[in-house]
Amino acid sequence: MLEKFARYPLTFGATPIEKLSRLMEHLGGDVELYAKREDCNSGLAFGGNKLRKLEYIIPDAIASGADTLVSIGGVQSNHTRMVAAVAAKIGFKCRLVQESWVPHEDAVYDRVGNIMLSRIMGADVRVVDDGFDIGIRDSWKNAIAEVEAAGGKPYPIPAGASVHKFGGLGYVGFAEEVRQQEAELGFKFDYVVVCTVTGSTHAGMVVGFAADGRADKVIGIDASCTPAQTREQVLSIAQSTAELVELGRPITAEDIVLNEDYAYPIYGVPSEETKEAIRLVGRLEGMITDPVYEGKSMQGMIDLVQKGYFPRGSKVLYAHLGGAPALNGYGYTFRNG
Ligand SMILES: Cc1ncc(COP(=O)(O)O)c(C=O)c1O
Repeated sequence: MLEKFARYPLTFGATPIEKLSRLMEHLGGDVELYAKREDCNSGLAFGGNKLRKLEYIIPDAIASGADTLVSIGGVQSNHTRMVAAVAAKIGFKCRLVQESWVPHEDAVYDRVGNIMLSRIMGADVRVVDDGFDIGIRDSWKNAIAEVEAAGGKPYPIPAGASVHKFGGLGYVGFAEEVRQQEAELGFKFDYVVVCTVTGSTHAGMVVGFAADGRADKVIGIDASCTPAQTREQVLSIAQSTAELVELGRPITAEDIVLNEDYAYPIYGVPSEETKEAIRLVGRLEGMITDPVYEGKSMQGMIDLVQKGYFPRGSKVLYAHLGGAPALNGYGYTFRNG
């Protein structure tokens, strides 16, 4: 589905699929659990899901004659870290708006983890007071105007690289890659579990798996805590991406499965249950998940297994999208492990 689109390689290639045997046994052994390690997809600044998306956006940035990538996220945004890494790799400047999306306990929250890495990679990092919102933001529009006023040529990349005409393509590619890996493994996954916030990861998967009738087997776990806006954004990105790749059938609201039960208490703040999920998968599998995104989708997957949501014998693929660097901003939370 992606042959006609230019792709700038930023990842190592197909990401590994790993069986989570000890977690699965711990949960009773009736459901088979696997992780697709998108968190290990690149040598660029610890990698993660944004690189698949950026692979289809960067050719457009280069063709536009721009010299500065301009993007936005929270203070501990993984996305802005990835944009800073890609800008360094392709020789662009980088201007980042870091909004105050998360109430935090750690005094060093804005000095460590993702934001520190972006500074090390040379991005012009500006922290602003605006709160959480996955939509198009004035602070980002202002940054684009400021780059222009200073004589630069900005290339705008919205939060999460989601509301961009090519934002959904990367995770269409994920579905195609899973199909190839399924052929090698000799079985198919019954469900894919994915963390959803700005929406293009989930949306791309919906389009990619719609091609073999599995769109609604992609179980999005909301971590935005503003699920109505996230659901709408997933649907609109999936619809525009389906047209772009000429899927041949429209995407409708029924294709979007978004579970709202695990995002509490608010975006960026882990519940006790999220912390327990992070510890459990760390202790059973040595796999690190973060308090903002993957810890919540891991909590969701564990809870859904325990509730019997997945029929006995199901094979469930957990998409591990990255995000571990943000843990550095949660030192107080995990001070005792
Ligand atoms: C680690 C991690 N997981 C999940 C997500 C959610 O992906 P999306 O914004 O495409 O919904 C993000 C980014 O927002 C992320 O950085």
